[in-house]
Amino acid sequence: MGYFNPEPKRRREDLFNMESELSTLDSGLKRGKLVVVSGLRRYGKTSLILTYLNEKRLDYVYLDCRLLPSGMISLNSFLNLLEEELSRHDWALKALRGVEEVSVGGFGVRFKVRSERSLLRVLHALEGKVLVLDEAQELRRSGYRFDSLIAYAYDHLDLKIIVSGSMIGLLYRFLRINDPEAPLYGRAFTEVKLRKLSDAESREFLIKGFEQEGVRVSDEVINEAIKRFDGVIGWLTYFGFALTTSGEDIDSILDKASKLALSELEHALRVYGIGERRYREVLKIIATLGRARWSEVKRGVEARLGRIPNNTLATIIKNLADSGFIRKENEEYEITDPVLQHGIRKYY
Ligand SMILES: Nc1ncnc2c1ncn2[C@@H]1O[C@H](COP(=O)(O)OP(=O)(O)OP(=O)(O)O)[C@@H](O)[C@H]1O
Ligand SMILES: [Mg+2]
Repeated sequence: MGYFNPEPKRRREDLFNMESELSTLDSGLKRGKLVVVSGLRRYGKTSLILTYLNEKRLDYVYLDCRLLPSGMISLNSFLNLLEEELSRHDWALKALRGVEEVSVGGFGVRFKVRSERSLLRVLHALEGKVLVLDEAQELRRSGYRFDSLIAYAYDHLDLKIIVSGSMIGLLYRFLRINDPEAPLYGRAFTEVKLRKLSDAESREFLIKGFEQEGVRVSDEVINEAIKRFDGVIGWLTYFGFALTTSGEDIDSILDKASKLALSELEHALRVYGIGERRYREVLKIIATLGRARWSEVKRGVEARLGRIPNNTLATIIKNLADSGFIRKENEEYEITDPVLQHGIRKYY
């Protein structure tokens, strides 16, 4: 293992510098039932959660909601994901043996009847454990009210819940904890907010990481990486891994990384269907200008695609900000991820 292993980290010794986040997560789970781990893409959410749970030797069910099908999510596809995860744990097989709604055997766990009632029975059998819903904003794309399910578990079960997401605005739009009309309204929760590394932390991470790999890298390359990857720990890991395994130069690593970021963006924009073109155009203008005011974005989109009503543009900008692709700083919009910005400039 080591810092540059591209998988989410699971062991304390591979996790760089997340002491305070670990302790907030710990106290949040000890004192309450719900912890929200938020952070933009590649800030280390999954690593933090998995390392914590393994370190504490807690039994947990980890559901990566990004693995759910695109389009509308049915209760059935959620049950598939749950079956798969439960089947991986001996403790879960044991806990579910007496539950009438499922069969348990060498094949793992299968729901006999695929209904909400069965799901609730299984959740009851998981009392005392931890349920992790990673990238939970994906659950918004469903006719089934997953927010009600979370509220039910919160109110009636002895179950700790960790909800995590990289599209932070969308995550909170899904949870609606401050909306009096919503099932989770007013429930107490702890938020663990992940942040970027400072330049000094980025340097320390890279130097230690290369030391672990026994690779010597010049100061110049380290400085360049700090500048290009802007404290995003997942990109620094990607860079360290690529450099040590293939010896590529930083420009081609950055190009590859930005293609990856672009394909993730494309995937996320698919939900907007034919509206997607306008989203792309807005991103392109912001990426090209580096920082763009509202009027500049509007003028730019209209020059390419014709008139756009203010409220349509406002919705697009809100969705892009809630998805974490752009942010507003002093009345100007910018792309949050420098690697994505590079990709949009170069390949869009
Ligand atoms: N504290 C850390 N120490 C070492 N490596 C880390 C740390 N945090 C994240 N990484 C590495 O960065 C990459 C992204 O981490 P991870 O998948 O945990 O982040 P994430 O926020 O869940 O990302 P995503 O938004 O893509 O789900 C992985 O390669 C992981 O190994
Ligand atoms: Mg993750």
